[in-house]
Amino acid sequence: MPRYIAVIDQGTSSTRCMIFDQTGQAVSLAQAEHRQFYPKPGWIEHDPLEIWRNTQTVATEAMQKAEINTDEIAALGVTNQRETVVLWDKNTGNPVYPAIVWQDTRSAEICERLSIEVGPDRFRTITGLPIATYFSGPKLQWLLDHVDGLRARAYRGELLCGTIDSWLVWNLTGGKDGGIHITDVTNASRTLLMNLETLAWDDRLLAAMNIPASVLPAIHSSSEVYGIAKGIFAEVPVAGILGDQQAALFGQTCFSAGDAKNTYGTGAFLLLNTGPKPVQSHHGLITTVAYRLGDGPSVFALEGSIAIAGALVQWLRDNLGLIRTSTEVESLANTVEDNGGMYIVPAFSGLFAPYWRADARGVVVGLTRYINKGHFARAALEATAYQTRDIVDAMCRETGLQLDALKVDGGMVVNELLMQFQSDILGIPIIRPALAETTALGAAYAAGLAVGFWKDIDEIRDLWQKDKEWHPKMAAANRERLYAGWTKAVTRSLGWID
Ligand code: G3P
Repeated sequence: MPRYIAVIDQGTSSTRCMIFDQTGQAVSLAQAEHRQFYPKPGWIEHDPLEIWRNTQTVATEAMQKAEINTDEIAALGVTNQRETVVLWDKNTGNPVYPAIVWQDTRSAEICERLSIEVGPDRFRTITGLPIATYFSGPKLQWLLDHVDGLRARAYRGELLCGTIDSWLVWNLTGGKDGGIHITDVTNASRTLLMNLETLAWDDRLLAAMNIPASVLPAIHSSSEVYGIAKGIFAEVPVAGILGDQQAALFGQTCFSAGDAKNTYGTGAFLLLNTGPKPVQSHHGLITTVAYRLGDGPSVFALEGSIAIAGALVQWLRDNLGLIRTSTEVESLANTVEDNGGMYIVPAFSGLFAPYWRADARGVVVGLTRYINKGHFARAALEATAYQTRDIVDAMCRETGLQLDALKVDGGMVVNELLMQFQSDILGIPIIRPALAETTALGAAYAAGLAVGFWKDIDEIRDLWQKDKEWHPKMAAANRERLYAGWTKAVTRSLGWID
């Protein structure tokens, strides 16, 4: 009887393989970072072949560390950075262009044109999304418009396109020798091409972007046996796919309408389960599929997407050299008592929710000679907390619900200063789970449910345990004064690009 579930968690900065037992404990983890390419301001690319190589390396390492073979793995789940687009030749298996990453803004002109020709309301009604460079469809249109011969090859049926889940599952199941070309509803709901009511590609939107349907993967649920892996995971059923933020929602066992979590990774993403009907947003949030288990009903979520969270800490490390490692940001921030009046608005890819302003760019405001690098570290951490407050306020306006606590996960939640400040600036408790790897765990749950490794979501719900809770300590007047400074700083970043 196989005793484990394996997961590939392919994120913006790195690829991990984790192996979980039936209690949801991780028995093994292997991780490899991949390169980030910035060919022009606003452009961000990954090498899909490097990602595929890293996937195989971490899978081997994780199985070696756990001292297991594939015959002890009941199912494989895949979770991934969402919206990042890969286009490849189905006969050679080679990508025809680097992966265009979700933060990349090169499709800004396409988005403007779609806004004029089709109209933002039409897109929002059909897909639940605003027209923005963030989503996959305009990136794919950019590729077909700008790279010679690609549209013709796409129409001839020579090319396959997908988000990273599709790319990995195609390779995991044999690639050019019979790999399956699929995605799941959560990833498809991030493309600006899927109709939220029918959960199918929408012909009108494909026509508006001149994208042939044959290039797109088949849309499946998030939990079912899609196929059997070959190669590295030979004979293991591939049985779960979830975009990473939806996977974290699932891993946090947010199964009921009203449950919410915030994941602090490269970006930060707050998702609120809204139940079986999509709720259209009027306050700058997006409507997305949270998950669908087999042929059960789809569950939807409202999401507040923040493009830059941990990435700002990486930027302090890699671009400014203020710290040597990301964890050093906390001790540096602790050398000062407060932000000294300075704010960083990290609008590196414009501002996402709730603003959706492609014309915003990063600003640092409030500088005096008093400011030192400790303030930079502190302002960087605070920026994540303020952006989360923007989202929580929009969620409250949208739903009329007051969050009474927020479950958190992701790499930055080890940062105690950030967690305390987040609680202070929201005025509610912050709760960190014992199983911090909720993204991989959510994909493990989806895969395990499909093969009967776990019976149902009630069994999974019982596995969730709290690790630590932070409570607000800041006086309300101070909280509002600080947040007012943030909202003023945001106005300075808007409209920087004409
Ligand atoms: O939508 C983008 C998101 O999926 C990226 O997640 O964890 O790589 O920051 P992460």
